Amino acid sequence: MPDRAVTVLGIETSCDETAAAVLRLDGRRVEILGETVRSQTEAHAPYGGVVPEIAARAHADLADLSVQRAMDAAGIGYGDLDGVAATSGPGLIGGVLVGLMTGKAVAQATGVPFIPVNHLEGHALSPRLTEDCPFPYLLLLVSGGHCQFLQVRGLGDYVRLGTTIDDAAGEAFDKTAKKLGLGFPGGPAVERMAEGGNPQAVDLPRPLLNRPGLDMSFAGLKTAVARAADEGVDAADLCASFQAAVCDVLADKTRRALEMTGEQRLVVAGGVAANRAIRGALDSVAEAAGARLIAPPLKYCTDNAAMIALAGAERLAAGLAPEDGLTVRARPRWPLDELAAARDPAYGGGKRGAKA
Ligand code: KG4
Ligand code: ZN
Repeated sequence: MPDRAVTVLGIETSCDETAAAVLRLDGRRVEILGETVRSQTEAHAPYGGVVPEIAARAHADLADLSVQRAMDAAGIGYGDLDGVAATSGPGLIGGVLVGLMTGKAVAQATGVPFIPVNHLEGHALSPRLTEDCPFPYLLLLVSGGHCQFLQVRGLGDYVRLGTTIDDAAGEAFDKTAKKLGLGFPGGPAVERMAEGGNPQAVDLPRPLLNRPGLDMSFAGLKTAVARAADEGVDAADLCASFQAAVCDVLADKTRRALEMTGEQRLVVAGGVAANRAIRGALDSVAEAAGARLIAPPLKYCTDNAAMIALAGAERLAAGLAPEDGLTVRARPRWPLDELAAARDPAYGGGKRGAKA
């Protein structure tokens, strides 16, 4: 039976972007009818990182307005929706609750299914927003909150091949910028600063490089950067050396991941994918492995609601939307590959575990 065409509203509030989007999926054809993203960067900038309480309040202020804007931009009525999707984890719990409750309210009022979406599934499917990117493919998700390799085998069929065992790569960029007083978010600032520096100037560690397996670690690198900064190393040299270390780790692990899986497509998503040096390194690795690098446009690399709407629409069209969507709870931690997580002591059984 061919999948039916569906129009879905998506809501994303799991970190510091309040976003809503309306999308129509007809077979493999995706049409984004309306979308809005409001970033809270300015509210968090004085603190050099995302403050959960500030984020939650901002989401509460903006969520319903964002939905209205996306619907207005789409030029359709609520009666035209076939489903409502919202990120229900993982993420900062206050924000996730806001998006989840907003989504449930719209779904209930319009009488359409509510589809809870795993934020990571949104990222995993994001290349399909703008490209014909058939399953399977290898995904490297590198953002401020996540740093992991996923084998995307099909809708709802993801295998986590490796993850950071401590900080995410974007977090390391943000901490480096904070230490050097470069502002928030740190990634773009560090990249700009690195342009004038010597990447060989400072000998920084590349944790877990040349070790088997696809797990990564950036906490030691972050500490080494802080120490070098305290010793008065030139900021441009330090940024260039730091960026080179991150590049080396990501490139080496990606090479291994492509070798292990034999995938022909490498998708890179997450805010760190904006970094030109990292993109360049991944491009070379992909080419050497005979694979194609697919990087979604930047606005779909970073957090957005179109990817959440797409995940909801794909599930709805495939008959995979849960019947009890309205009873689903917000989950601060929700690994996409539950089996891998269960095997991984870093996740543990409780609230603690690797942040990413
Ligand atoms: O995907 P994203 O917008 O949000 C989540 O973390 O979910 O990613 C933001 C992260 C931040 O840590 C930011 O510093 C990093 O992506 N980032 C970059 C660059 N632009 C953003 N890191 C390195 N180079 C960049 N040009
Ligand atoms: Zn994200």
